[in-house]
Amino acid sequence: MFKRPKVTIVGAGATGSATAHRIAAMGLGDVVLLDVVPGIPQGRALDLQQAAPLEGFDARITGTNDYADTAGSDVVVITAGSPRKPGMTREDLLRVNYAIVKSVTENIVRYSPDCYLIVLTNPLDVMTYVAYKESGFDASKVMGQSGILDSARFRTFLALELGVALEDTSAIVLGGHGDAMLPLPRYASVGGVPVEQLLSSDAILKIVERTRNGGGEIVNLLKTGSASYAPGAAVAEMVEAIVRNKKRVLPVAAYLNGEYGHTDVYAGVPVVLGGNGVEKVIELELTTVEKEEFGKSIQVIKTNIYMLYGGEDAGERVC
Ligand code: 2OP
Repeated sequence: MFKRPKVTIVGAGATGSATAHRIAAMGLGDVVLLDVVPGIPQGRALDLQQAAPLEGFDARITGTNDYADTAGSDVVVITAGSPRKPGMTREDLLRVNYAIVKSVTENIVRYSPDCYLIVLTNPLDVMTYVAYKESGFDASKVMGQSGILDSARFRTFLALELGVALEDTSAIVLGGHGDAMLPLPRYASVGGVPVEQLLSSDAILKIVERTRNGGGEIVNLLKTGSASYAPGAAVAEMVEAIVRNKKRVLPVAAYLNGEYGHTDVYAGVPVVLGGNGVEKVIELELTTVEKEEFGKSIQVIKTNIYMLYGGEDAGERVC
């Protein structure tokens, strides 16, 4: 018998709900929305279900506080966690969100031992590592969403600056989903034309900085809460690549096992994403400066991983 993919989203806040909506509207599968707060996932799910006849999608949406309802999920998206507050870095969230992601992962794995895990909780690369460690899954099945979002922000600012169609832009951001992320102007283009031929280096630098601060800019505007529509759309693109075995080439937070010269760490890199999860990590040629910046970004992630799991430079363990 054929069965529709089942996609669980853990966390029914703004991001979880936006993600659920996008996945349902794209027809990627039935959706289970899970949250610890009674009533919230049920209310959100019912609201979303009632949008279906109007928007023309047919997904069944379930809201629940019980992990048993997530059983047999094909893909699980973890958005649960404390959001970033103004002035707070993603790394500040480390202590709070480690405990949440660990517990969510344990519960998910109990009911869906064969699922693909996509992590959205910050600090993103470290929390993806936590999900990998605590799930015991193969690294190809555990990934983080950040590169598509950061690249979409880079693309947006390029299109706005140039006054051209957003869809004609192409860009890639490597490294951690933090202030040390690495937008790569050398690999950015508009309709196939390298942006370095279209914009001055000053203009590109401003766009790179705005991209790095893309999440923070929204946090500062909202005061409470963080971005939700673009992260939700980015997750849906990953879910689509997996459930439709599209073999998309997308930047995602993937496990590095020697690629780019780094080991036992998650960071944003281009991968082939398909029915087997992360099927291949693509190694871009980087200049010496880019390699150095990538290395700095990796170091920030590793320091946080060491604080959680021990290791060199661990300092005081926080958990
Ligand atoms: C962002 O960059 C919240 O990390 C998320 O918007």
